[in-house]
Amino acid sequence: MATTHFTYNPIPLPPSADPVHFKDFGRKVEGFDPAKIDDSQMEEIIEMLYKHSILLFKNLKLTPKQQFEMTHAFDPKTESYGHGNNKTGSTKASILHPDLKTIPHQPQVQLIGNGRVPEVYEGLDHPQLKHPHHRTFHKEPVSLEDEENGITRFYRWHIDAALYALSPPKVTTLYAVKVPQGEPQTCRYDDGTGDELKVPLGGTVFVSGKNMFDILPEQYKSLAVRTKVRYAPHPYVWMSKAHALPTGLGIENEGLEMDLEDLPEWDESKIKVFPVCWKNPVTGSLHLQVHPCGAHQLLIDPLPPTSSRENALYPDGATVTDLAQVRDILYKLQRPGISPELCYAQDWEEGDLVLFHNRGLLHSVVGAFTPDQLRMFHQCNLAASDEPLGPDAEDLKTHA
Ligand SMILES: [Fe+2]
Repeated sequence: MATTHFTYNPIPLPPSADPVHFKDFGRKVEGFDPAKIDDSQMEEIIEMLYKHSILLFKNLKLTPKQQFEMTHAFDPKTESYGHGNNKTGSTKASILHPDLKTIPHQPQVQLIGNGRVPEVYEGLDHPQLKHPHHRTFHKEPVSLEDEENGITRFYRWHIDAALYALSPPKVTTLYAVKVPQGEPQTCRYDDGTGDELKVPLGGTVFVSGKNMFDILPEQYKSLAVRTKVRYAPHPYVWMSKAHALPTGLGIENEGLEMDLEDLPEWDESKIKVFPVCWKNPVTGSLHLQVHPCGAHQLLIDPLPPTSSRENALYPDGATVTDLAQVRDILYKLQRPGISPELCYAQDWEEGDLVLFHNRGLLHSVVGAFTPDQLRMFHQCNLAASDEPLGPDAEDLKTHA
């Protein structure tokens, strides 16, 4: 399709990013006016998002209603917020609960950020917001002294998804209303590699799930296309007492997950089993898409009979139920994909709108704010009307 409506330029990459891996990743869109959007313009935006994973719009004025409508255009058959709108009852213990404030007149749009809003805002009375701090989630947070020197962590690498009962949203839209100014910070991996990443204060870091797959050695690609992840029921409740790895890419093995019988009532039919690789509906590329924290079991298919068994991992297939082993396998598949040169950190300015392909990348917040630093974002995503597709027969022939 020719891009006839808007102009698309590469997004500005930080010096840490290796441009080789970002040729198709991220576009800055010019000429867009949310008050004048029509169907054929939106069609172009949708196609460009699937091709480029992130679209950035600068200096926008965007109402919650316009944001919902843009988000909705990606999946017209759905209406409800990606985590559902019932925030009481069974989901109370969820670790996501405190981070979200629903905008009353547009309940699919959430106000997120940090600090106390000094007014009635979009119908919310002086809402108190809290930017997630890795100290509340990581097993061994950085020392206070290091933190004063600007050291931070990836809070949690994730896909925006309930991972139970609801299907992962196709797109997430993030609109920056208020962005506090401050010095850049250093995000430290603290996993023995010495890796670190310069990040803007309170930035959002993205990595491409396509890169994550493409850089794997052949035997891991074969494993990735043959594997499905079974997520825990109510995963955010299940993991609510557990701690994360210092990279934010999964959970430490401390045995702190809740017993399944102690979880709020759950139903086998609502448990999510997703392929490790999700097929891009426009490009056909495979994106390695796993929310490592919620993973409970791995279901590995055997090699096809025509494939060579030399160096193959799990050639006969397996059901991996040991959590430590599940996490070890996923870490080997995912850790290469979050290396500093593969990270894009969005340096937010007020009026920025970012659309990201939630089924094609992983993201994490970074940084720490003081209580008086006011940050306000509107976030919207919708539980999808269908499930992500895995590798097809052709992909298996190529990679398995
Ligand atoms: Fe998110």
